[in-house]
Amino acid sequence: MSNKVGIDKIAFYSPDYYIDMVELAHARDTDPNKYTIGLQQDKMSVIPVWEDIVSMGANAALQIIDDKDRESIDQVIFATESSFDYSKSAATYIHNMLGIHSGAKSFEVKQACYGGTAGLMAGFDYVRANPERRVLVVAADIARYGLHTSGEPTQGAGAVAMIISSEPKILSIDAQSFSRTDDQYDFWRPSHSPVALVDGHFSNQLYADSFINVFQQAEEALGTDLNQVKALAFHLPYTKMAKKALTALSDAETKMDEKMRARLIEDWQEQLNAAIVYGKQVGNTYTASLYISLMSLLKESDSLKAGDKIGLFSYGSGSVSELFFGNLVEGYQEQLEKVSGQKDLDERLQISIPDYEKYFGDRDLEYEANIDFEIPTDYVGFYLAKIDEHRRYYDFK
Ligand code: CAA
Repeated sequence: MSNKVGIDKIAFYSPDYYIDMVELAHARDTDPNKYTIGLQQDKMSVIPVWEDIVSMGANAALQIIDDKDRESIDQVIFATESSFDYSKSAATYIHNMLGIHSGAKSFEVKQACYGGTAGLMAGFDYVRANPERRVLVVAADIARYGLHTSGEPTQGAGAVAMIISSEPKILSIDAQSFSRTDDQYDFWRPSHSPVALVDGHFSNQLYADSFINVFQQAEEALGTDLNQVKALAFHLPYTKMAKKALTALSDAETKMDEKMRARLIEDWQEQLNAAIVYGKQVGNTYTASLYISLMSLLKESDSLKAGDKIGLFSYGSGSVSELFFGNLVEGYQEQLEKVSGQKDLDERLQISIPDYEKYFGDRDLEYEANIDFEIPTDYVGFYLAKIDEHRRYYDFK
């Protein structure tokens, strides 16, 4: 058994299009400050119909996978709550598109936005028992509540890919973590519905309560060691949610010395500015969101350094949450230089609200039995080329 497992490589992908939240607010006859200050969202990624969870996941993974990985990845785990097939997993396409050896296993996992963490934890366990081998975890989602709904400004689309190894170059993960299951209806999507159903204000409350619950468990087990945690990455349904969770923590009853807790929360609020940079521009990406927050924190914070301990809070409606910790590995910044970041977000194209509404409606074309998708001539990457007798075929350009 190897104890030193963790995230060896990580990359994210978000589609080429976005809308400006001020424009969306005007179109919805809403004060723009509600979106930009109240929810802390500036932009929202929009996915065109020729992209889906598989193409986004493959485009994220392509940035990090090399031939050594292709031979040593034994499991491809795909986390999503935007699945388009009840049987065949999205992981099977990714396995093929990336050319991973045929002896690997591929499967999909689900528990709302917690799914990415469930996949990651399964991967850590496998690599602890098989230190020479690797696991690829892909988390990808399209957050959809519907046009003109209260959830609309918290939509988005994106994917993260992570390779787990016993010699992690980015973050080595502590074996002990703190979780909670609480059977609730705060956000759910029945199989017949193309959009999520949500009890929005209750979901905010449950997120904050879950954070406090797992924090209290961590405090019980780790005591003053929590003092060493320099920053937290959060699941970000909208970026203000993390700030609300930290505020709830400062009002909650904990065992920690009051002064120490106040100082810690102040430090974490400070680091949060880095952890939300990408989320503010992408929107909710469900399973991928926490890991986009992690990348944002690591790439945008100018005070974190190798050796620092950071925490990750994962929340999935319904509900399951987990708080876990890891240490930044020497040279992690160089490892992250090679992958997506602010530059890729800057290169996206702003589209109008009518175009966004058209793309939103176009997703129903996925239900067609036969359709060829036309893609823009300047598109680069994996894309959904056609649906043929309900079978999906992907191409690369
Ligand atoms: N200027 C500045 N701020 C304003 C404002 C204005 N003119 N108008 C409103 N605000 C503020 C409000 O005070 C509020 O802030 P606080 O929460 O800090 O009080 C914020 O803007 C939002 O206002 P409302 O609560 O009135 O907005 P709403 O009723 O339209 O709903 C929402 C907001 C519940 C988040 C809704 O968008 C929603 O249901 N989203 C989907 C569910 C979600 O994201 N839940 C989060 C937790 S669940 C989870 O994490 C899993 C997941 O990914 C879904």
